[in-house]
Amino acid sequence: MKVSVWKGGAEGAFREFEVPRHPSQTVLDVVTYIQRALDPTLAYRYACRVGMCGSCAMSVNGVPRWTCRTHVDKVAHNDRVEVAPLKNLPVIRDLVVDMRDFFDKWARAKGQFQPTRSKEDDFAVVKPTSPKRLLIDAGIECIGCGVCYSACEVVAWNPEYLGPAALNRAWTLVKDERDAAGLERLRAVAGDAGCHSCHSHMSCTERCPKHISPTAAIAGLKREVATAALRGDL
Ligand code: SF4
Ligand code: SF4
Ligand code: FES
Repeated sequence: MKVSVWKGGAEGAFREFEVPRHPSQTVLDVVTYIQRALDPTLAYRYACRVGMCGSCAMSVNGVPRWTCRTHVDKVAHNDRVEVAPLKNLPVIRDLVVDMRDFFDKWARAKGQFQPTRSKEDDFAVVKPTSPKRLLIDAGIECIGCGVCYSACEVVAWNPEYLGPAALNRAWTLVKDERDAAGLERLRAVAGDAGCHSCHSHMSCTERCPKHISPTAAIAGLKREVATAALRGDL
């Protein structure tokens, strides 16, 4: 098959390679073949190869995906595939993007757990049946791969927007019974770059490989922010 791969930085260009097809071949297998057999300078990231780390995320035919979990059979058209770096993040080189903006936004959304107890206290018990815990059951499974962020149209035209992953993280902490940051976190996500900028396009939710719904998390944040504002707390 013919594979177009992005080479260079932001001003780079696609380069075409011929790669043999195999049964059950993934897009990550293809990129690895190119790097090992055709172009040893090709830069790309991966770690687990089994859909656990999220580091192999790339744009395949324009769509953000985990390449280790994407079979060529599913995405090849007329024996052709295009592989590019994730959109909405600066390209370092070839298929590698700079994730700093992405994780800085987690920090700006107060994505750090702030405990109410000290290490001297007993373990906190959160019952699996707790309504708050049930609300974040899916959201806490996020592994920070950046696929949703790359798919988000609002991030594309407003680079300040915190984005789906950071806001999903904030939501999981807002509903964490052990967390003490409460209003401070709601203030962090209430501004112009926060949850109200989301247009609920659902691209993040459609693309998340873990079937998480950042859109629902962001809608939850909007409700919490509105309630706090009506109470005069913000
Ligand atoms: S919400 Fe899904 S797509 Fe977004 S960073 Fe987390 S795991 Fe990746
Ligand atoms: S639902 Fe909101 S966060 Fe998700 S892709 Fe759309 S605008 Fe971005
Ligand atoms: S290499 Fe870890 S998710 Fe693909």
